[in-house]
Amino acid sequence: MRQGNRYLLALYTSPRRKGNTATLLDALAGGAEDAGLRVERFHTATMDIRPCRACNHCFKEGECIQQDDMQVIYPHLFAAGAVAMAAPIFSMNICAQAKALIDRCQRQWSIRYVLEKEPVDRVFAEERRGFFLSCCGRDKPETFDCTRPTLAYFFFIIGVGNWDSLTFAGVDEAGDILKVEGAVDKARSMGEDLAQMAMPH
Ligand SMILES: Cc1cc2nc3c(=O)[nH]c(=O)nc-3n(C[C@H](O)[C@H](O)[C@H](O)COP(=O)(O)O)c2cc1C
Repeated sequence: MRQGNRYLLALYTSPRRKGNTATLLDALAGGAEDAGLRVERFHTATMDIRPCRACNHCFKEGECIQQDDMQVIYPHLFAAGAVAMAAPIFSMNICAQAKALIDRCQRQWSIRYVLEKEPVDRVFAEERRGFFLSCCGRDKPETFDCTRPTLAYFFFIIGVGNWDSLTFAGVDEAGDILKVEGAVDKARSMGEDLAQMAMPH
């Protein structure tokens, strides 16, 4: 990872600030930080991130017309060496807060497919790492199946070449994730491993 890009962007998207997915992301980010990596955290549910309007303004110059808090997130999406999104399952898919953020990456789709420019350097994209952390209430791991194409698209369009997920079913009340043996430790070790990967040899 290059020096200026050697940080983790941590996107907390659940409206439950101290909920299960936030606990997982705290652990991953904490592990990375303790191992020497810088972390930039955003609690997007309390930010002003509106849905895409499909106005196609981004077709002209690749910029989104909406001057909301997404303008703060955009530069990090394309600069961070690693991007972690924590998002719970709401109504059988990722929560609307996470989906709105992903939809606003339509700007990147426009840059690539309408303006025919490469938004992120290909070599850098291959080096970048992504993480998807999620929990759902019902005890059925297949609940996460429908999130995969959306997250694959998200990481593809922002130029993150490799991503992993850590998902837990049957985790409903805030704090339930702490009862799942090894869950927090696993998230933490993912962060530590990331920091090791990111360190120059
Ligand atoms: C509006 C809403 C919709 C939900 N829909 C589902 C669902 O479709 N399937 C499911 O298994 N859990 C569902 N849940 C439960 C959450 O996925 C679960 O509580 C999760 O642990 C929340 O993560 P958080 O604490 O990070 O917000 C829903 C919760 C809410 C608030």
